Amino acid sequence: MYKRLVIIGGGGHGKVIADIALKSGYKDICFVDDNVGGDCMGYPIIGKSCNLEQLNNGETDFVIAIGDNQIRKRIAEQHKLNWVTLVHPSAQIAYGVQIGIGSVVMAGAVINPEAMIGQHCIINTCAVIEHDNQLGDYVHVSPNATLGGTVHVGSCTHIGIGATVRNNISIGENTVIGAGAVVVKEISGGGVYIGIPAHLKT
Ligand SMILES: CC(C)(COP(=O)(O)OP(=O)(O)OC[C@H]1O[C@@H](n2cnc3c(N)ncnc32)[C@H](O)[C@@H]1OP(=O)(O)O)[C@@H](O)C(=O)NCCC(=O)NCCS
Repeated sequence: MYKRLVIIGGGGHGKVIADIALKSGYKDICFVDDNVGGDCMGYPIIGKSCNLEQLNNGETDFVIAIGDNQIRKRIAEQHKLNWVTLVHPSAQIAYGVQIGIGSVVMAGAVINPEAMIGQHCIINTCAVIEHDNQLGDYVHVSPNATLGGTVHVGSCTHIGIGATVRNNISIGENTVIGAGAVVVKEISGGGVYIGIPAHLKT
């Protein structure tokens, strides 16, 4: 029996998550958004994040649909709610994969054996997470990004759209890998890296 689902964030990313929720069997969907009211995809925006505790009645699931890793982290840490993990039915999740609570996996993503995905991560459309990857909490892997085997990604790091990370590479926390970058060397953490091969953006 599916409960009501509250999606936090009524923007484009929220629409994608609502679509996954519908395909996963949720029928009672609504949104919370601090900036806009009205509706999102025809589902009502019923309040703001300050109302979240009131909505937490034990019959409601929650998911955060905000792409900014730091904001996702702040909301998840501030509110003790029944966070759910959502996986699009077309995503390929291999044997031994672990996906942390609150994470979302979009259409066409591939996560290969024994990869570990942290909490409240976004594995976006058609991203490839190869075998034995370890992703910390609040990581966002953008559409069509590819992480080779045994890549480690620190918490709150954003891998940009179409970026590639060579196998056996570690990227630290709070790092941004720009769109289309190719990472071939370890990145200790922090900063924005762009280009081929990826280098610190000055
Ligand atoms: C790398 C990034 C964070 C930089 O953002 P920014 O600091 O706002 O950079 P700007 O757009 O102001 O561009 C500054 C310069 O960097 C260049 N640049 C920006 N992003 C670049 C990238 N990914 N690769 C190469 N060069 C890039 C710009 O061309 C510009 O160069 P110029 O000064 O010679 O004109 C951003 O461009 C990016 O790639 N973000 C990832 C977006 C993404 O993956 N979204 C997914 C949503 S699902």
